[in-house]
Amino acid sequence: METKMGFYTVSNVENMRICVVMVGLPARGKSFISQKIVRYLSWLSIRAKCFNVGSYRRKAGAAHPSADFFDSSNKEALKVRQKAVTHAIEDMMKWYEEENGVVAILDATNSTRERREWVLRLCRENAIEPMFLESWCDDQDMILRNISDVKTSSPDYEGMDPEAATQDFLRRISNYEKVYEPLDRDNDKDLTFVKLINVAQEVIVNRIQSYLESRVVFYVMNLHIRPRCIWLSRHGESVYNVEKKIGGDSSLSARGFQYASKLPEIVRESAGDVNLTVWTSTLCRTQQTAESLPYKQLQWKALDELDAGVCDGMTYEEIEVKYPDDFKARDDDKYEYRYPGGESYRDVVIRLEPIIMELERQENILIVTHQAVLRCIYAYFMNVPQEESPWMSIPLHTLIKLEPRAYGTEVTRIKADIPAVSTYKEKGTSKLGESSAYATKYRNLLNEPSKSA
Ligand code: SIN
Repeated sequence: METKMGFYTVSNVENMRICVVMVGLPARGKSFISQKIVRYLSWLSIRAKCFNVGSYRRKAGAAHPSADFFDSSNKEALKVRQKAVTHAIEDMMKWYEEENGVVAILDATNSTRERREWVLRLCRENAIEPMFLESWCDDQDMILRNISDVKTSSPDYEGMDPEAATQDFLRRISNYEKVYEPLDRDNDKDLTFVKLINVAQEVIVNRIQSYLESRVVFYVMNLHIRPRCIWLSRHGESVYNVEKKIGGDSSLSARGFQYASKLPEIVRESAGDVNLTVWTSTLCRTQQTAESLPYKQLQWKALDELDAGVCDGMTYEEIEVKYPDDFKARDDDKYEYRYPGGESYRDVVIRLEPIIMELERQENILIVTHQAVLRCIYAYFMNVPQEESPWMSIPLHTLIKLEPRAYGTEVTRIKADIPAVSTYKEKGTSKLGESSAYATKYRNLLNEPSKSA
């Protein structure tokens, strides 16, 4: 059986195994990039997993090593380091076999040619396509920002005085520098590799073999690590929301207009003086909501609400009566279910891919859009699994602030304090509104300030 995934079917992805072998000194954002690739591919339903050699080394007994541990003349430490990477690769091979893994990321420095040749050989012996991804960086500000992130978030320096941690980390980096052999066009001309210079200021791409590899390359070329925020809001309550109808292109209700008037103040309180751009869908209710926002605005067709096809303009109660099989099928698998003549959540994810790519390139953006679309965007940033994302609660009249950080995304939810109907439909009923059981199971994805991995 083949399941459509936009640019792939599950069956042809399953024949593919790619290992993205990270390369680079410490504090070059390798883990950040690795996590993002995994999150992006998983969101597109491509099985991806990161194998971080640092965590295997910690499990192998070197939990808080000093910089001397990373000196290449330290023979005892070399044994532990070799054990850690071997273990990571063994787990990776198991994952390809047992879980039909498609893209693994070997997150390590892999800083010498000898190490890379060893990984290359293991990949080739196991029919895995290796793709080296080097993060090379001489931008001192960026390196210092990464060092600051590492000393506060790495388990290696847990509980340590921040200044002592910084000094030790700098010595660790200089130990790696003594043996580091960057990828280059001459010595590595036969390898598949991408070399990011100062994140994506300059990118060298060599011998990309497949479409999937080229997707990864395109994605990493669009990344930046400058601090920024993304705000998400549904449109204000609409006339259709009040009438319990789905879809359509109705205007805001009186309370929806109140939210639209209050939104500039809520955004200003959260964003301060930063300059941001507002993205809306092409539908009337998002544009009315954004009307008073004093920022540049862009409309995207890709941000329009999930198309309910033949059910557009109906209430759930009417759908349950007129299309009982469809009503049940949607509850059974809300992510895959496609309305006759309309869309599924999977379809929405696929049409949102250019939006995500553009969001990665941009700085401060406020998106005013619709329930299903926001669920999909939120799922990308917060790594929410597919089976959960269509059931998340994204209430009306609430602004969500996302702050991407090196090791996750911080969320803050700001309620406008303007009443609105609930448009949430639980499984197994056509009534709207959330019971407390649902609130516990799904709402907490949004209620608490939280971080994604
Ligand atoms: C680590 O032990 O933290 C990373 C191992 C490496 O790739 O050098």
